[in-house]
Amino acid sequence: MRFIGNRSSGKMGFAVADAARRMGAEVTLVAGPVSLPTPPGVTRVDVRRAAQMREAVLAALPGMDAYIGAAAVADYAPAETLPQKLKKSGESLAITLVRTADILADVAAHAARPRLVVGFAAETQDLEAYARDKLHRKGLDLIAANDVSRAGHGFEGDDNALSVFWRDGRHDIAHGPKTRVARDLLQLLADRLEAME
Ligand code: C5P
Repeated sequence: MRFIGNRSSGKMGFAVADAARRMGAEVTLVAGPVSLPTPPGVTRVDVRRAAQMREAVLAALPGMDAYIGAAAVADYAPAETLPQKLKKSGESLAITLVRTADILADVAAHAARPRLVVGFAAETQDLEAYARDKLHRKGLDLIAANDVSRAGHGFEGDDNALSVFWRDGRHDIAHGPKTRVARDLLQLLADRLEAME
């Protein structure tokens, strides 16, 4: 009945899945609780909790060329799930949260690691420094960063802009519809995969 979530729409991840499919990839889309239609030709696995997302992602890894982690996964989850509605009592309520596993970092360190592991980074300042730190810390090949402090670059809208970083490179994807931004990102990923061969 009640849960802790966030305001991410899932639109960027769905646009990425759709773009990848249109470019000829076989795509498995592990989706949190969003209200978006499944892109045609994409295999969708629905999950609600971070732990379920991790399980579904790891199960889908074998044979994949790329993992793109676009979900706004919770960093903390309630320690307890109640079987019934929590009745009100008292003037305040404390809920204990526990750290969730970092799915992206786990994928990057997994025995079935895809050749290309790509993360997203929503930042409000020092975009490149924070994104590059995440790239190293999580063992990623690429990170797609967006400045969510700017209007129309973020969670709920239809538009986005990305700065993509890898060890010795950077590519900026101009502001525009998430569908076009996703296509440009996928083209860059295809180029990077080719460069790795
Ligand atoms: O460190 P931060 O959460 O900002 O990193 C964002 C990236 O990490 C995103 O690609 C997101 O999908 C991924 N992530 C994850 N599991 C978490 C938290 C974040 O896969 N528990």
